[in-house]
Amino acid sequence: MHFSRIPLLLAYLHLACSSQPSAPAPITATLRPLPWGQLNFLHTTDTHGWHAGHLQEPQYSADWGDYISFAHHLQQRADADGSDLLLIDTGDRVEGNGLYDASNPKGKYTFDIMKHQRIDVITTGNHELYAANTSVREFEEVVPDFRDAYIASNLDIYHPKTGKLEPLAPRFRQFTTKNQGIRIVTFGFLFNFHGNANNTVVQPVEDTVKEQWFQDAIRTEDVDLFVVTGHVPVRDSQEFDVIYKAIRDAKWDTPIILFGGHTHVRDYKKYGNKAYAMESGRYMETLGFLSISGLSTGKNDVVHPEASLTYQRRYVDNNLFSLYQHSDTDASTFPTPLGTNVSAAIASARKDLNLDHAYGCAPQDYWLNRAPYPHPDSLLSLLNEQIIPDAFEEAIKKPSIVITNSGALRFDIFEGPFTIDTTFLVSPFTSGFRVLRDVPYEAAANVLKLLNNEGPIMLPDLLALADNGNVVLHDLLPPLPPATEHSLRAQQRVTGEGQIMLHADDPALVPGYTTTDDAGKDGDDTLHAPIQFYNVPNCVAANIGFTPKANPEKVDIVYNEFIQDWVLLALTYLGEERSKEETEMVLGGRSMTEVISGWVGEKWKC
Ligand SMILES: *[C@@H]1O[C@H](CO)[C@@H](O)[C@H](O)[C@H]1NC(C)=O
Ligand SMILES: *[C@@H]1O[C@H](CO)[C@@H](O)[C@H](O)[C@H]1NC(C)=O
Ligand SMILES: *[C@@H]1O[C@H](CO)[C@@H](O)[C@H](O)[C@H]1NC(C)=O
Repeated sequence: MHFSRIPLLLAYLHLACSSQPSAPAPITATLRPLPWGQLNFLHTTDTHGWHAGHLQEPQYSADWGDYISFAHHLQQRADADGSDLLLIDTGDRVEGNGLYDASNPKGKYTFDIMKHQRIDVITTGNHELYAANTSVREFEEVVPDFRDAYIASNLDIYHPKTGKLEPLAPRFRQFTTKNQGIRIVTFGFLFNFHGNANNTVVQPVEDTVKEQWFQDAIRTEDVDLFVVTGHVPVRDSQEFDVIYKAIRDAKWDTPIILFGGHTHVRDYKKYGNKAYAMESGRYMETLGFLSISGLSTGKNDVVHPEASLTYQRRYVDNNLFSLYQHSDTDASTFPTPLGTNVSAAIASARKDLNLDHAYGCAPQDYWLNRAPYPHPDSLLSLLNEQIIPDAFEEAIKKPSIVITNSGALRFDIFEGPFTIDTTFLVSPFTSGFRVLRDVPYEAAANVLKLLNNEGPIMLPDLLALADNGNVVLHDLLPPLPPATEHSLRAQQRVTGEGQIMLHADDPALVPGYTTTDDAGKDGDDTLHAPIQFYNVPNCVAANIGFTPKANPEKVDIVYNEFIQDWVLLALTYLGEERSKEETEMVLGGRSMTEVISGWVGEKWKC
């Protein structure tokens, strides 16, 4: 295993770079090179609007314009040595960053930025489908932007004009690579998602693979490689298992590569003979790189010996230091005219949206998962012990339990300016708070236990009950089980086992991803000190206007509207059935985002 160690200090990199003006300079790191091959892929997934990159984390500070320049240089390399490069994106491009969420309408700037990258296979995530107007725009704008690259194997939409149900995009695509002539059949799936608005229909993957078109596509003659893309986790993945088996039933030996997403982790899994799957993280932190060598091609009849078929993966930290190294460029040769333009368009959109406006300055870092709960460094503790009590003290007249779900928080708060942008990173959800009056204290106190799976019945059981009543909640609340458990498990695998202290005194190693996957521990391009992630509860509760010792007879339950169905369900189970009609809005409908930014403005001066 050869990898070069290239420590290099680029302290003034930002002076000549093309990432965002306020982006911090990347830090020294030790890099493993790209394992370049016959067919190479770059993979993005779950970017969630972070096309400006991370402006408070040097390690992930390159933007979409830089990605465009990077892909350009790798394409040049492919053209020079006769290999090929394909770009993949597996969905959830929207929601979760001010660049997308702060505009009216949402995403006003995003699509004119994104479309400048050439993408060869692009597919849909669940976040493109929550609101009907998001999927309509996907259909009317994004699909045409990417033309035949957009694939929707199991997704239909009611046509916004005719009302007719039709595929959002073509079901599959057959193409031949430019330089090698590798003959590819590709699919684009979404996991079996139920939380979509009623203008789209997601067909269960088990049914899609039985469709005639799919059965015909996997029997296409002279295919050198199946490229299965999907907004689908690669591990413990019922959907990818089904697709893999279906292809193998028709073609026992044709190489397969699967690209997945959704769980926000770096991962790489061996599916079986000549089949691997890769997942490339989240939020523009990671550019996944994968190469396959030893594929047959349409250009000659040479069948490569079996042993030479190799798959290799690398997770690239998305910063200019990494991008220069991997493209053999420097600050002057890296930016392309198009990349520079797109970076400028992003900067101008951020300026229009005033995203750098600071409400206040955070005195320290607050972590979502990098600190246990409760803890002085825990974002959840900050919310439950300071922000919520302050926000509700005035508004609440009677003893109340205020329940918030950790899923309402998406990202950490870093020491320094807390900006308009930060509010969307930390809590992009727009729902407000509601109250249920006069609930017997004993039942109210047990709601939290149920929501946290500590009661006599587990939430999945409740969900099974709820499904019969047509309340389908699994996918509305990704951070509640089973999704949370899955992604935390995966994160723990990614960050290594046990508690490892950060090597704060080792200047060569910045804390970051230390991924372990089916190919070992050498996937990350950058050698990092590991980060410890902690399990935090699904929900936390603040007692306002009473202490549990007082044992009040009745309390009001206040909660984020997002979890209303869960709360009502839990109460029903506890013998206190209440209806939606009995709930009232509180705080004048202010959302969690507004509550947090208002508190920051009052308490944290710069
Ligand atoms: C969709 O509707 C919501 C709610 O009215 C709005 O906030 C959002 O900007 C709309 N999005 C688009 C793409 O029109
Ligand atoms: C979808 O829901 C809207 C209300 O949210 C309703 O007006 C419409 O008829 C529904 N459409 C279908 C196809 O069920
Ligand atoms: C970059 O933007 C300039 C000014 O808008 C334009 O003239 C030029 O054609 C653009 N270049 C590319 C490669 O898009």
